Amino acid sequence: MFKDTELPNIVELRNVSQSYDGGQSYVIQNTQMLIEDKPDKGQFIVILGASGCGKSTILRYIAGLQKPTEGDVLIHDKPITSQNRVSMVFQQYSSLPWMTVLDNVALGLRYKGIDEKERNQRAMELIEMVGLAGHEKKFAQYPTLSGGQLQRVAIARSMIANPEILLMDEPFGALDINTRLQMQELLLDLWYKFHPTVVFVTHDISEAVYLADDIYMMKKAPSRFVEHVVVDLPYERDREIKRQTHFMELVRDVEDRMLGIVTGD
Ligand SMILES: Nc1ncnc2c1ncn2[C@@H]1O[C@H](COP(=O)(O)OP(=O)(O)OP(=O)(O)O)[C@@H](O)[C@H]1O
Ligand SMILES: [Mg+2]
Repeated sequence: MFKDTELPNIVELRNVSQSYDGGQSYVIQNTQMLIEDKPDKGQFIVILGASGCGKSTILRYIAGLQKPTEGDVLIHDKPITSQNRVSMVFQQYSSLPWMTVLDNVALGLRYKGIDEKERNQRAMELIEMVGLAGHEKKFAQYPTLSGGQLQRVAIARSMIANPEILLMDEPFGALDINTRLQMQELLLDLWYKFHPTVVFVTHDISEAVYLADDIYMMKKAPSRFVEHVVVDLPYERDREIKRQTHFMELVRDVEDRMLGIVTGD
C-alpha cells in the first residue's frame, strides 16, 4: 500500500502496535507506514480515520513524544533523536498564554541559544507571513486573540526552526469555515516556501483532497492503515481546483472508501 521505490525514506513505522492496558487490548495493531523523502519539493500526507482510531498517537510517535508498545518508528531509517527537525501543531491550542505572540514564535530559537535580536527578527518575519503583524506584543491567549489567530501563532511557532517534518493534528478543526479556508491557503503558501514533509490529520475529506499528495486511511481500533489514495492534482493548487470534476471525483472516491472502512470489519 505504501510506495517503496528507490527514494530514501523519511518516516517509517514498522510493525507498530499500541496497547494502553498492558496488552489486554490494542488500539493500533501491527501497522506500517512508509513516507519517502522528497527534500526539494516536500510532500503533503493526510491521515483520515474515525475518532479514537489512533491518529494523534501516530503523530506523537513521529514527534518522539511517545514510543509504541511494539514495533519501530524510524526517521531517515534510524530511531528518533532530539536532533531530528520535527515540529508539531496540536489538536488543541498549544501556545503559551503567559507569553506574547513574539516570544511564543521565537521560543524554538531561544532553546537553540540564538541571541534575542536575531530570534526576534526571524520571529517577526514569520509573524508577518502568517498575517499577524501588529499583534506581536499581545498575549497568546483567548480572547485576546481569536481561535484562528492563535492557530496562526502555533503555525508560525512550528515553522521557525524550518522543520523537515511538520506534524499537524486537526489544526483547523475548531475554526469557522472562512477562517479554515484562509488557513488552508496560508498553509499551502508556507509549504511551497519551506517544503517540509507534512503529516496532517483532518476529518474533512474536501480539505484532505485539496491539501494532500497522498491520503492514508485508518480503520477503527484495533486500527492500522488500510487504504491509500494518490491525489493526482497539480502540485500548486488554488481554490478554483475544487470546482473541477476530477477534484469532486477524488472526494467521492475517498468518501466511498471511508464508508467502506467504517462499515467493514
Ligand atoms: N494515554 C492514554 N491512556 C489510555 N488510552 C489512551 C491514551 N492515549 C490515547 N488513548 C486511547 O487510544 C485511542 C486512540 O487515541 P488517539 O487520540 O490517538 O485517537 P485519534 O484518532 O486522534 O482520535 P480523534 O479523531 O478523536 O482525535 C483512544 O481510544 C484513546 O482513548
Ligand atoms: Mg486525535
